[in-house]
Amino acid sequence: MRAVTDEKAIVPKIQIQAVSKSYPGDKNPVLALRTVDLSINEGEFVSIVGPSGCGKSTLLYVLGGFLEADGKVLVDGKAIQGPGTDRGVVFQEYALFPWLTVRNNILYGLERGALAPEERARIADRLIGVIGLKGFEDRYPRELSGGMKQRVAIARTLACDPAILLLDEPFGALDAQTREVMQDELLRIWLETRKTVLMITHDVNEAVYLSNRICVMSARPGQIVEEFKIDLDRTIPRERLFTSDAFNKTRNEVWISVRQQALAAEKLNARV
Ligand SMILES: Nc1ncnc2c1ncn2[C@@H]1O[C@H](COP(=O)(O)OP(=O)(O)OP(=O)(O)O)[C@@H](O)[C@H]1O
Ligand SMILES: [Mg+2]
Repeated sequence: MRAVTDEKAIVPKIQIQAVSKSYPGDKNPVLALRTVDLSINEGEFVSIVGPSGCGKSTLLYVLGGFLEADGKVLVDGKAIQGPGTDRGVVFQEYALFPWLTVRNNILYGLERGALAPEERARIADRLIGVIGLKGFEDRYPRELSGGMKQRVAIARTLACDPAILLLDEPFGALDAQTREVMQDELLRIWLETRKTVLMITHDVNEAVYLSNRICVMSARPGQIVEEFKIDLDRTIPRERLFTSDAFNKTRNEVWISVRQQALAAEKLNARV
């Protein structure tokens, strides 16, 4: 019995092994990812940072099961077969159903599940409150700002309660204040549920604030070139954490690493 438990504990939730991906280009194929390896344990919150165009979204699409690639992608030790309800995705370009209202976008995934209608309505109401869109329940996406749409996309993914959250710059379109609210909500959800999270962000502060581990990706073709383990006390309020020496030291280390990759990407682009 014990052996089974131990064995389960050592299988990472996500294993990305030697994943490479190229897209057809005008003349030559564009190599977006080159032999990327990444293992994420159950309950870990991992962020990926790296220069624009280095292949971060590509990696997330491959893990989401939307794009085929060379190499292996395993979830719970098994090769993925396309998208699955175990992986909830928030896309960089928030994909809402234009013909559904805010409430019905959030309810969409739940309607295929086994929950009673009252329970689904309760979840939708709670999330509408969390994303600050009370009063907008019956609006359509075309009536919302970019930031509002992104909040609905996040709520829709959270509503289905997937074991793994794959987030592609989920707060990129939000104003600073809403961004903080949503970061704190994500942190609260993660502390409560210990979901496995892979988040892409350009915001080093956000990555340090939320993650257990930060992976820095190189300029294209993307590879993970450096990892930082983050060991901050998550119960400290953000104001105190952000001004602490430990936070600033980590933030600077990550920032320098990201900057190096961004400079390498600029050089690469200058040559093209
Ligand atoms: N469908 C596609 N066809 C051809 N090339 C693509 C396609 N999608 C992405 N690419 C190219 O692959 C590379 C990686 O793109 P990707 O969107 O993964 O980068 P990213 O790191 O997410 O960038 P950003 O930070 O700007 O979101 C880029 O050079 C991009 O131009
Ligand atoms: Mg991207």
